[in-house]
This record gives sequence, structure tokens and C-alpha cells, in this order.
Amino acid sequence: MNENMKIPQHIGIIMDGNGRWATRRGLTRSEGHRAGADNLKSLCLYLNKLGVKYLSVYAFSTENFKREKKEVDYLMNLFVSMFKKEFNVLMDNNVKVLFSGRKEPLNKKVLVAMDEIKEATKNNTGCCLNICLNYGGQSEIVDMTKKICALYKENVIELEDIDVTLINKNLYQDLPPLDLVIRTSGELRLSNFMMYQASYAEFYFTDTLFPDFNEREFDKALEAFNKRNRTFGG
Ligand code: FPP
Repeated sequence: MNENMKIPQHIGIIMDGNGRWATRRGLTRSEGHRAGADNLKSLCLYLNKLGVKYLSVYAFSTENFKREKKEVDYLMNLFVSMFKKEFNVLMDNNVKVLFSGRKEPLNKKVLVAMDEIKEATKNNTGCCLNICLNYGGQSEIVDMTKKICALYKENVIELEDIDVTLINKNLYQDLPPLDLVIRTSGELRLSNFMMYQASYAEFYFTDTLFPDFNEREFDKALEAFNKRNRTFGG
């Protein structure tokens, strides 16, 4: 990687293709998700080292609950085991873990593991890993609207106070806008991922499946980002 590269402040990754990665190897979909989770761990350490301040990842959409129960159960257990032990290396590397999404209908075990890792890493000052779990971009906008309406009803704010800053403060997390959104595995969709935050993001699509999206593949995305001319509408 070239030392003079601009490093995006906030990167989003739609981690797609775990299932296909597994099927191509004659493995189960669960093994694909496991490989994806291991890759996320390595990638997060790499981005932390590069100085990326915020990494948002799409781990489980609200729509993913429509998948077979066996796959949903596997993913929920995978999250618990990752948060309880596998991500210890992230804690040791100063990564702060946050979550975006609705709590309902996540089970108690998952919610407890989420709280534990959030609490354990809350004073870390390295990369912020924002895990979108039971997340939907439209639901986030609905939930933000309800929070702002409640503030208005309770006379905490006036209509004139509603601006981009207030909206951002009432999203699941108050993060800077996305600079770069990466989607692996060849699909060219946003799939309800942080569309408000992605308003001025650059997009990078690759056919590489998420478990294979390693440091070298990330460097290619970074090179592409560095060639873009960002005008922000100006
Ligand atoms: C999409 O690939 C991937 C998911 C629905 C799950 C993503 C989860 C991980 C990478 C694990 C993350 C772990 C933690 C601890 C946050 P797909 O299954 O839809 O793949 P396919 O389109 O090839 O079937």
C-alpha cells in the first residue's frame, strides 16, 4: 500500500458471499459464516492499524430473520461466541465495539453478549467497529423519526431545531458520514444498509466473496477510493 493514500474516516462493508464461498468448497453455509467472521476480525485489525476511525459492517439485516431457522440460530450463536471470546483480540488492540439495530426479537444471550463487549471496549480509542445487527436502514429512519417526534411532543425541541445534526444524533449511533461503502460478492445493491449515512459515500463493488476479502483486496478498494474525485455536490 502506498504511504500517501488518503484513508477514509468511515468505511461501511456489506459482507456478502459467505454462503457461496462455502458452497464452492463443498462446505456448509455455517462454515462460510464462520470464515466470514474470522475474516472480519483480521480485516478490522488491519483497518485499525491503517488508522480508519469507523468501520460499520452489515452482520445481520432485519430481513435475514426470514432465512431458515437453522441458519439464523447458527448466526446468533456465532455472534455470541465471537463477542464473548474471539473478539478479545479486538479489545486488546484498542477497538471500540458499538451496535446499530433493533433489540426486538434478538434473544437474551445475544443481547447480553452485545452489552458485555460494548461495555468492555467503551473506553477504547482506536477504530470504532459499528456492528449492524438486526439492522435495517428504513427502520433506523422510522425509529429516529419517532424519537424526534417524542422530543417535539415533550417540548424539548421546536420544529426549527430539526436539522441534519439533530437527525444524526437520533440515529442508532451518532457517527460521521460514510466515505466509502464496499460490497463484496458481485451484487450491486445497498440492501437497506445505512442509506442516510451513505448520502455522499463512494461505492466499491467487487466479485470477491467476503471470506476472501483480505488485506490485499482491501488495498484495491482503497486505491479505487483514492482515484475518485469527491465534490460533495459542489
Ligand atoms: C451474507 O452472505 C452474510 C450474512 C447474512 C452474514 C454476515 C455475517 C458475518 C460475516 C459474520 C460476522 C460476524 C460477526 C461476529 C459480526 P450470504 O450468506 O448471504 O452469502 P450468499 O449470498 O453467498 O448466500
